[in-house]
Amino acid sequence: MSLPLITPNTTVLRPLIAGNWKMHGLRADGLALASALVELQRSEGVRNYEMVLFPPATLIGAVEPVLRDSGVGVGGQDCHSAERGAFTGDVSAAMLADLGCSYVITGHSERRQHHGETDALVKAKATAGLRAGLSVIVCVGETQAERDSGEAKAVILRQLAGSLPDGSTGDRVAIAYEPVWAIGTGLTATAADIADMHATIRQALADLSTTPDAIRLLYGGSVKAANAAEIVATAHVNGVLVGGASLKADEFQAIAEAVSR
Ligand code: 13P
Repeated sequence: MSLPLITPNTTVLRPLIAGNWKMHGLRADGLALASALVELQRSEGVRNYEMVLFPPATLIGAVEPVLRDSGVGVGGQDCHSAERGAFTGDVSAAMLADLGCSYVITGHSERRQHHGETDALVKAKATAGLRAGLSVIVCVGETQAERDSGEAKAVILRQLAGSLPDGSTGDRVAIAYEPVWAIGTGLTATAADIADMHATIRQALADLSTTPDAIRLLYGGSVKAANAAEIVATAHVNGVLVGGASLKADEFQAIAEAVSR
């Protein structure tokens, strides 16, 4: 089936550059990384992108004061779907907001894979994030086996329909397409594959959002300074969700510079 021609909106939406630190760093590491990045950001002129860091929950309280007033935002990597309650070890969206977070990621493949998170749970978490006043990045992505069996698009469309909060609009919701086989492997989807999947997602949003063209679509999976410019120049790519390369201030800053060129 050929897709109808949709005007790429990469130039219209402000790119989002998100750094997911995952479960890396003790306090000294987080402070050093955030401080180094703020220093690099200081020499930036007008930034035509938005940058947000997602430290482990234990580091948010330490990192947030370093980022405050720097123009770099901070967010949580996950949240519980409930506002409060007897949920040992969990963190609510309101707690993230209370720490100064403006974002939360939900449905990362590592949560889906290692914690058995379903689309319904991802949706409930994203909805909780919105309720707490946060913006959310909802992640979707197919495994290698799903891609090999030709199911990649069906998987992504099912995850999208099941995971996006009702009434998702571009001012508060972004979607990250992160093929599981490209995460932490050094393998990146080809520009053609990214363009194809992002166009599919954009088209599906017509049924899922009243502002389908305003929702930023990020790509994630082995993004680094050397490939960021090509990825963000791809139609319907409005930013990147970066794992490993966000743990080095120079490399993450170089990604931002590549995106803003
Ligand atoms: P890598 O950039 O390390 O492949 O991780 C991607 C990712 O999972 C970001 O959320």
